[in-house]
Amino acid sequence: MQNIVVTGGNRGLGYEIAQALSDQQNHIIIACRDVAHGNAVAKNFAGSSEVLELNLCSEQSITSFSEYLAHHYSQIDVLMNNAGIFDNSGQQLPFMGQHFSNVWVTNTLGPYLLTKQLTPLLERAQQPKCVFMSSVVGHHKRLNLQAVTEQGHSEMYGQSKYADLLLTELFSKKQPNWQVLAAHPGYSNTAIFDGRISGWKKQIIRHLTNRLGQSPKKGAQSAILAIKQDLPSGSYIGPKYLNELYGPPRVQHIQNYIHQEDLPLLNQFLNELSK
Ligand SMILES: NC(=O)c1ccc[n+]([C@@H]2O[C@H](COP(=O)([O-])OP(=O)(O)OC[C@H]3O[C@@H](n4cnc5c(N)ncnc54)[C@H](OP(=O)(O)O)[C@@H]3O)[C@@H](O)[C@H]2O)c1
Repeated sequence: MQNIVVTGGNRGLGYEIAQALSDQQNHIIIACRDVAHGNAVAKNFAGSSEVLELNLCSEQSITSFSEYLAHHYSQIDVLMNNAGIFDNSGQQLPFMGQHFSNVWVTNTLGPYLLTKQLTPLLERAQQPKCVFMSSVVGHHKRLNLQAVTEQGHSEMYGQSKYADLLLTELFSKKQPNWQVLAAHPGYSNTAIFDGRISGWKKQIIRHLTNRLGQSPKKGAQSAILAIKQDLPSGSYIGPKYLNELYGPPRVQHIQNYIHQEDLPLLNQFLNELSK
């Protein structure tokens, strides 16, 4: 039996990933903010599951979640870092002793801290696997650690998703026995684009996404392939067509999308924060 944690498994792509993996061989742990909603959707799963509260913007919540797992599970086989937001409100949050953009905390720092805290449980798995959900908008960026503390920086989402690619590479170097992978779901019709955008912009984006976005079931295929297949660490899985917006998943290497010089910068930043 494999224990698989899916953050944000209560809706959107996370729900599709969790449901597709749910069978007699896998026990799914849905990590979400709204446990009642998580329990309601978990009723659709074919196999066993547990729904646990996790707010990636709260260090206390991440620690409580990790401690609960340490007490109740002998090992975690897969950590699917799926949860994320696209939010242009410019909100700032305290996290690890500083204030950062809520997008940076939710999409990058929270998953980083969670992965660190679950490391002892992952190490007990026969073949630990950790997948970071990135995005095509994070490709080929340069790490801008100034932007992560600025209010409402226009590039914040892209920076957070670029950092997820860098985290994939950092963890794959730190944990040579794990499979650490990145996935991109293409342009998928979920609620993510509704986040904090208001008025006519929200309506236009919703209309376009309804018409052009692929179904969440299709978008989930990259992450599902990453979890199911035996792939070398540092692999990146994203849709094949139209600049990775649509289509079946294709395996590439993360090094195609990152600048190696940014790795020590992010590593140093995370080490300083962790002191
Ligand atoms: N949809 C796309 O086209 C697309 C493209 C590229 C990448 N992605 C990535 O795919 C991932 C999933 O997005 P989606 O499209 O499925 O969006 P979604 O439908 O909006 O779902 C986002 C999930 O993340 C959870 N979440 C948000 N903030 C959280 C927090 N602080 N703590 C714990 N959970 C939190 C949400 O929980 P609540 O229900 O509590 O809000 C929800 O379950 C994200 O990482 C996103 O960046 C999506």
